[in-house]
This record gives sequence, C-alpha cells and structure tokens, in this order.
Amino acid sequence: MDPGRDWWKRAVFYQIYPRSFMDSDGDGVGDLRGIRSRLPYLARLGVDALWISPFFKSPMKDFGYDVADYRDVDPLFGSLDDCRALVADAHRLGLRVLLDLVANHTSDEHPWFVEARSSRDHPRHGWYLWHPIDRRDAFGRPVPPNNWKSLFELRSAWFENAATDELYLGTFTRHQPELDWRNPAVAEEFADVLRFWFALGVDGFRLDVATAYFKDAELRSNPFSWKPLDLFQRHVYDRNRPEVFGALAGLRKVADEAGERVLVGETHGRDPALAAACHGERGEGLHMAFNFEFLFRPWSARAFRDSARAWYAALPEGAWPNFTLSNHDQLRHARRYRKAGFTDARARVAAAMLLTLRGSPFLYYGEELGMEGSFPRRRELRDPLGIATWPLRAYGRDPERAPMQWDSSPNAGFTEGRPWLPLEPGWRGRNVEAQERDRGSVLNFYKALLALRRSRPELALGDLAFVGEDPDVLAYERRGDGGAAGEGRVLVVLNFASKDRRFELPSDASVLLGTHREAGARNRAGRTELRPCEVLLLEGRD
Ligand code: GLC
Repeated sequence: MDPGRDWWKRAVFYQIYPRSFMDSDGDGVGDLRGIRSRLPYLARLGVDALWISPFFKSPMKDFGYDVADYRDVDPLFGSLDDCRALVADAHRLGLRVLLDLVANHTSDEHPWFVEARSSRDHPRHGWYLWHPIDRRDAFGRPVPPNNWKSLFELRSAWFENAATDELYLGTFTRHQPELDWRNPAVAEEFADVLRFWFALGVDGFRLDVATAYFKDAELRSNPFSWKPLDLFQRHVYDRNRPEVFGALAGLRKVADEAGERVLVGETHGRDPALAAACHGERGEGLHMAFNFEFLFRPWSARAFRDSARAWYAALPEGAWPNFTLSNHDQLRHARRYRKAGFTDARARVAAAMLLTLRGSPFLYYGEELGMEGSFPRRRELRDPLGIATWPLRAYGRDPERAPMQWDSSPNAGFTEGRPWLPLEPGWRGRNVEAQERDRGSVLNFYKALLALRRSRPELALGDLAFVGEDPDVLAYERRGDGGAAGEGRVLVVLNFASKDRRFELPSDASVLLGTHREAGARNRAGRTELRPCEVLLLEGRD
C-alpha cells in the first residue's frame, strides 16, 4: 500500500456499487463476500483504492442511500465481520477502502427518526428539520412553507407527520428525512461514526450530497431555473449554503486525527466553484470534491480542455483536483459518447484522459470493460427516480447499475440466482474473462495505462501544461519537478475526432503507450498524422 499522508493524490480510485459487483450467496444482489472474492482482480487491474457505495443497514428505499444504522452492515450485504475481512484482505493486496457516508438524511426507519417524530418534546426531535402545519388547502392538505422539491418523487419536499402536527423535509424521497446540521449533536454523532469506521481500518469516505447539509435558515423558496434536471429550480436555498463549509472542516479534523485518511465530497449541481469551495480556503476543508461539470461535456477535445482549465483555475492554492466520467447516478460515459464503430475507441481516449490529467481519477466499476449500461423494461425498473419518471429515459439510474460482467457463464458470473437488475445485452462478449484474453481489449488498455501511471510519477504528481488549442486534439505535457513527481516528462496526445488529424510534435520522442503505434517507436519532431481516436503517450524530451 502506498504509504504517506498524500497517498490519495497518487491514487486511482475505483467505485463499487455493491448490489451489482459480485454476489456470493445466490440472492441476485451483490455483497461484501462477493467484493472480497474479486479483490485480486482489482489488484491486478492496478487501481489503488476502492470507494464502496453504502452497505449499511437500510430499508433500501434508495438502495442504501437511506441508512437505518450507520454502524452496522445490512444483512443483505453481510456482517461487520465480513467488512473487517474485506478491509484486511484489501490492505494485504495494497488496496485502500473508502465507504460512503450519507449524513444529509437518514432512513425514515432509523431509530433516531422514529423517536424524533414521536413527539415535539422528544430530545431527538431537534435532530431533524420540521415546520409546523399552520395552513391547509381546500383539500385539507398542509401548505408547505416553500417550493422545495423532493427530487425522486417530483412533488413538494415537505411531508406530514401527524403525531407532531408538523411537516418534515425530504428533498430526495419521503423515506429520507433530512437532519438538522445546525444542531451540534448531529455533527458530533457523525464525527463519531467516522471514528468508528476509522478504528475498523477504513481509509476514508465519500460524503454523499456533502453540500446539502445546511438549508436556508429562513426556508426561502428557490428561484426559477430553465434546467429540467434541476426540477426548474436554482438550488440556492435547499442546498449549497455557505454554512456547510464549517461542517466539512469539522469532519476533516476528525479524518486528520485518524491519520492518512481521505474525505471526498459529492457536490450538488455542476458548479466547479462550489466543488472548489469544499476544499476550504486554506486546505481546512475536504481533501477532494467532485466537479460534475466534467461529466456533462460533449465529446470534444476543446470542451474537456476548457472544463479542466476552469476546474484548475477554480481550485484554491494547494487544493488537489480529481476527475470522473461515470458513477451510479449518471448514464455511463461509454453510452453518452457512443458512436457507431468508435464506441470502444472513444472509451480508450476517455480512459487515457482520465488517467493522465492532473488530478486523482475516479473510475466506475465496469468502465474498464467499456460497459455502456442498459435500459430495463418498465417492470424491471428498481430506481425510485426511474419509476417516477417512466417512460422518460433521461432520469432513471438503473441503466448504470447493471451487474458487473465477469465471464461468459450464466449471468456473467455475477450471481447463481436471478440478478436484481438485468444484465447488459452484450455481456457474453464483453466480460473480464474474454477481455483479459484479448490483447486489444479495453480492459487491457486500462491495465497498460494504470501500470504506466504507477511507473511514471510525473503522470500522477507532475505539473500539467496544455499543448496547442486544437478543437479535436487534446494534448498536454506532464512534467516532474524533480521531487516526488520525478524528473520525467510525458506528452499526452488524444485525437477526439473520428478522422485523421495533424499534430505538430514539439520534439523527437519515443512512444510509451499508444493505440496505433508500438511502444518504443521513435517519432521525429514536426508534423505527424494522428489516426481517428488515436491515443499517443510519448516520452517527452527537450
Ligand atoms: C446522492 C447519491 C444518490 C442518492 C442521493 C440521496 O446524490 O449519489 O445515489 O440517491 O444522494 O442520498
């Protein structure tokens, strides 16, 4: 395992959606023993750290993002002992493990909420957000205090609690009541949850909707926005309040006390400035935060260059960037960028970009195979958002949660039972076993990139300088400064076009890794012809 406080700057992270990775007991849902059995694969792949989406006790109304006990594993996924064994095995193989902390809301079945909703006088009542029912409409329905929406139910986010004659807030579903982070007891409790898992050996957390913990104190209505995906609201009052940064700094302290841990925040929205702010002005905030703007770029060298530039510029001094193209909430990038005859070629270009830009890459399980996701039929839908928005296909999150494809045995080797979501149609040809055998596979390309990244410190830690402004060719140099970043230089040249493109090589250089040229081949300075979707990594020289 890469030692030292800054291990996470060199690390490549790999997200596992535990329901879909590997099932060990035949119930059709992935579990911790399943993940454990596949750790050797992940070590072979060459990633450094895993982020596992929630596997805590949960009624699964939002598939684990509704937690009923933060200190225990849901029996569907295994036990605390399974978790201990998983972390120990991962560490033995040199892999770190991050969990997912859902601290904006709990499940409505969490004992805290059961107590809180029982009476206004219960000491736990103040852990959640409430509004007294002061008015009812002509149909007898309580009138909410503002226009905040429940994202997955497409209605008001305020839900009635008869026992206290109040409304509680649930901006995802009614089953995810929101905590009141202005109450210091809530912050203390989550600090303690972190300590619990750090003591068990966990290396860090991804913080679910980390910028949503605080809501406007006056509960003001959100202003209008033209964006349908944001439910036609600018989320300035129900999320992304500046008070949140203090809370994030508090969690950072807990992580620092435990030593060599990392916290990565999920931001709500696509605003690099907001993601940047999570790092804190003086590094007192999170180690990293996701900038989702990158995920919504069209397939264009210029678009990604502009986005990366804006992200670098937004980050405060000393903050460390990160990049991701897919996760459990977004259609997989192989699908977003697919183009007849070029889908896998684009997947290779995307992988090369993700793994060589300056910033920690976050991969999503299956992207190393070029998995694209698949749209289940109506009766196979599981995601509450997908069900609420059927037949629209732009919102539901089932497509990107299809089971991992291990081999060509029944159900792709994922389960001996009936998979909880249907497999992608192409799994018989597109699976780990088949791609490990095929030298030219997407998987082997990821492996080669990951191995190169490990052997060349400048690819992880070096400076980055963009080369040229070509709309189709993304090129940059990664250069070590002689310290931890080494002394080397790597020139990355990525042709996003499905046509040949010219590129001016600044100096003679030999190929480190490429899709169309042999490693070791020498290239002369000057004009070179890039093939469609060519990836070219060169040993830079003056
Ligand atoms: C985050 C998660 C998403 C979940 C939501 C509510 O956005 O990534 O999957 O549904 O928070 O917890």
